[in-house]
Amino acid sequence: MLVSGSGTNLQALIDRSGQDYTIGLVISDRPAVRAIERAAHAFIPWEIVEWPGDRGGFTRDVCDAADRAEVEALVLAGFMRILGAEALERFPSRVLNIHPSLLPAFPGRTPVADTLDHGVRVAGVTVHFVDERVDHGPIISQEAVGVDPDDTAFSLHQRLHEVEHRLYPEAVTALARGRLRIDGRKVIWS
Ligand code: GRF
Repeated sequence: MLVSGSGTNLQALIDRSGQDYTIGLVISDRPAVRAIERAAHAFIPWEIVEWPGDRGGFTRDVCDAADRAEVEALVLAGFMRILGAEALERFPSRVLNIHPSLLPAFPGRTPVADTLDHGVRVAGVTVHFVDERVDHGPIISQEAVGVDPDDTAFSLHQRLHEVEHRLYPEAVTALARGRLRIDGRKVIWS
């Protein structure tokens, strides 16, 4: 799993791991984040992969670390770096991301604030395969979350997180069981 921050999705995936999948390595691009503490607490190996100054080198370092840990998929959760094409070549159809909006609405770094700024009534969560564009690949699952008139970014993100913590383990379990097939832009569940 690739993380940069608090790691609540990592925690949700840790809590559901064991039967269908295990987490072989947690990679963070920055030290001393809560996600690393969660990994250490669960006795999951973790590594800091620092930004070497270019995306190609960073992607290679991440993939090499993942290969050394013999993992089969890269699962991004709050990872604040964009991986290069090499990750998709080395883990084809095996790179997942979660995003707190109903993509293709509000891609990018500030989806929750953008949702509120836009005044939309329905927010949501998307789990998707990563492709060469940011927050863009084939959609695995989505769920809507209503926006309350007095929501702040914090209160809305909290409700989005609750949905994330259910959807992401479901999606990773489905991937591990071989239940997800990509057909063009669509993901077929079996
Ligand atoms: C989540 O809302 C995720 O959708 C987004 O970044 C946030 C990460 O939260 N990509 P956490 O680190 O898993 O708590």
